[in-house]
Amino acid sequence: MKVPDIKSIPPGEKGRQVVQRDKKAIATSTKTCELVAERARGSLVWDVDGNIYIDFTSGIGVVNTGHCHPTVVKAVGDQLNKLMHFAGTDFYYDIQVTLAERLSKITPGDFDKKVFYTNSGTESVEAAIKVAKWSSERSRFIAFTGAFHGRTMGSLALTASKTTHQERFFSTMPGVDHVPYAYCYRCPYKLEYPGCGVYCADAIQEQYLDKFIPSSDVAALFYESIQGEGGYIVPPPEFAKKISEICKRNGILLVDDEVQAGFGRTGKMFGIDHFGVVPDMICIAKGMGSGVPVGAIVFDAKLDFGVQGAHSNTYGGNLLACAAVGATLDVIESENLLSRAQKLGDHLRKRLDEMKESNPIMGDNRGYGLMQATEFIKGDGSKTPAPKVAGFIVQESFKNGLVLLPCGVSAVRFIPPLTIEEENLDAGLDVLQEVIERAGKIS
Ligand SMILES: Cc1ncc(COP(=O)(O)O)c(C=O)c1O
Repeated sequence: MKVPDIKSIPPGEKGRQVVQRDKKAIATSTKTCELVAERARGSLVWDVDGNIYIDFTSGIGVVNTGHCHPTVVKAVGDQLNKLMHFAGTDFYYDIQVTLAERLSKITPGDFDKKVFYTNSGTESVEAAIKVAKWSSERSRFIAFTGAFHGRTMGSLALTASKTTHQERFFSTMPGVDHVPYAYCYRCPYKLEYPGCGVYCADAIQEQYLDKFIPSSDVAALFYESIQGEGGYIVPPPEFAKKISEICKRNGILLVDDEVQAGFGRTGKMFGIDHFGVVPDMICIAKGMGSGVPVGAIVFDAKLDFGVQGAHSNTYGGNLLACAAVGATLDVIESENLLSRAQKLGDHLRKRLDEMKESNPIMGDNRGYGLMQATEFIKGDGSKTPAPKVAGFIVQESFKNGLVLLPCGVSAVRFIPPLTIEEENLDAGLDVLQEVIERAGKIS
């Protein structure tokens, strides 16, 4: 089979009709390109006009095990025929407890943990906010500039990657202060690593906690081990340890949002595993269910509400979701997807670095495992961000059969399923290379 296989420039006739109807019927959200997906398998997606694409998005970091992995499909199918829903927050399911025990084992930290199940990333963050407030009896939070934690009113207050997320929604949850993240390519303090001594972490104490945010009021610091929507920003190795120490010193909970980096994407189960730090709470969603909507927080059992009704929901830990997560973990283990993500990630980086040598519009290649991105810049040596170039690369790649998503101001992310075949990874990179070369000529 030829992949990618673009018979005519997409969207074709059927696709165009769906796009038009969508524009009338569906609320405006974040559409990136006019791909009308009909079915998918592994790393390949078929559109309604029969075009075949290579997927470097995994449905926004969700289908880490590949589209419709047979083990996940079977587990969900088997559960579908037994019991779909009985409200696990009000009654009891064995499968939910078994999965919680498993999640407690795979998350960092050798202490008793508890799990609260949700249905999405933003709901996980909302639940983490509530656990932090409840257990600390404090109501202020610290988050990072460039962070993305979701779009509901609590998580949105923590999000700080694009003004468009906030515009017209003020006021969100009060009490959130943002501090600069360790974005070394464009250091917010105009310093250089390693000479800077990772001052951005020290500044949290020196410029914020010692000056105007009383630590005794702060419930938690929310943090992404690798910033996702904000541009796939990888902090230096010391950053996580330093912020963890600041949290401990000040009695502030460290909440690690692994919604995008989690479940093997970076070559370890969680992004934070690269940095040897144990958070008090971890937020997960996306990749855990291989496409079935699900999320969770896993936290130190000492932080639990302990009273009925402080927090709950209807669908959290839905049976189909639990079956999908269990099967996802089985696949990650049985197919050694962590080491596969590392190995393929090394190959991906090697090819991106080779492309960078002859393409000055590629400013920075970064990431771990199969969570990588390139930040595009003007090719005049000025390091000026080039959002139009990033947009061109996403659109032109799509027309040539490679599905991509942007992130940050001018970055494009590369997050294929961890199961992608080496030849499909290379075929996708061939498309990317040709498009980048064209972008360089017209920019
Ligand atoms: C790190 C992080 N947290 C939270 C969210 C919100 O997840 P959802 O879109 O499932 O609400 C996202 C989504 O991209 C994310 O990347």
